[in-house]
Amino acid sequence: MPRFTLIDREVEISSFADDVRRGLTAAPKSLPPHHFYDELGSALFDAITRLPEYYVTRAESEVLTSFDEEIAEAFGTPVRLIELGAGSARKTRLLFDVLRRRQPQLEYVPVDVDRTILERSGRTLLDEYPSLRITAVCSDFRDLSRSLAGLHDSSARNVVLFLGSTIGNLGFDESVSMFRGLGKALGPSDAFFLGADLKKSKCVLEPAYDDALGVTAAFNLNLLARINRELGGRFDVKRFAHRAFFDESKSRIEMHLVSREAQTVRIEALGLDVAFAEGESIHTENSYKYDAAMIERIAAASGFRVEKTWTDSRRWFADFLMRVS
Ligand code: SAH
Ligand code: AVI
Repeated sequence: MPRFTLIDREVEISSFADDVRRGLTAAPKSLPPHHFYDELGSALFDAITRLPEYYVTRAESEVLTSFDEEIAEAFGTPVRLIELGAGSARKTRLLFDVLRRRQPQLEYVPVDVDRTILERSGRTLLDEYPSLRITAVCSDFRDLSRSLAGLHDSSARNVVLFLGSTIGNLGFDESVSMFRGLGKALGPSDAFFLGADLKKSKCVLEPAYDDALGVTAAFNLNLLARINRELGGRFDVKRFAHRAFFDESKSRIEMHLVSREAQTVRIEALGLDVAFAEGESIHTENSYKYDAAMIERIAAASGFRVEKTWTDSRRWFADFLMRVS
């Protein structure tokens, strides 16, 4: 049996071209955040996770390191790990390390929209973990019935990981609809392990999304560069500014690309000219910040119950183990 299989599910709910047309002809303008992640976007995200201001990855790594045995015990080994938005799977290695002491073999099913990162991280993981078998799925995790079709009927106990507060990109209704779909795919001994970034002071939150080196700005602007590369866009990225701020009332960081001047930008492949007023923005990402009660509400509305919660020493980040109720 091959140790690495990649399944291309081509189930993106809508294509990059469709989303760009829809988002840039709407008022206000917006683009969905999963399009950040092409090869360059995933590399820039990886750089973000190493920035001093971006505490998110370090805080969750602390949780996974401090409570590794307890978490594995709560999973109830042996398990099969399915990871939504797996990316480079750097933190997932902390779970592989504890699980390989408990079970001789491990099947890992990373799901991601970026095929390049699935291939790259898959090959590295196989070298590092000889007992690992990988079935990678390139698809949009918001359509779980299709992304996970045929994959959840394994005899192993499934643990679905959704780490790094990627849930933060989704609003309440979108999270509930995604988690309901997930609940349908899970049995009573399966589990859902969710990482969520917690509410904290603006002074900590805002620099994490507007770092001194400008890496997050580059990550945000790469969306325009991606339109240039893939759709014949004529964006001059220097004419747009990165903006990130915490909206207390909505408990979310918002990221925008703000037009520095009045301009019209051609996108050849779409036969489209997009007009921007000076100061007009494209809303590119929400990153919600939670408290335990908010996660409980999302869980309850989607048919899950929270069984255990772990946090880092500063209570900046929490991981929740849930089961279908
Ligand atoms: N889990 C990693 C990576 C987080 S970055 C961590 O905790 O650090 C978010 C990842 O989710 C990226 O790899 C991105 O490509 C993927 N992603 C974002 N939206 C997605 C979607 N709708 N469907 C599938 N993958 C998505
Ligand atoms: C993937 N996601 C959880 C990151 C976040 O923190 O919202 C993406 C990110 N955007 C800007 N910086 C990091």
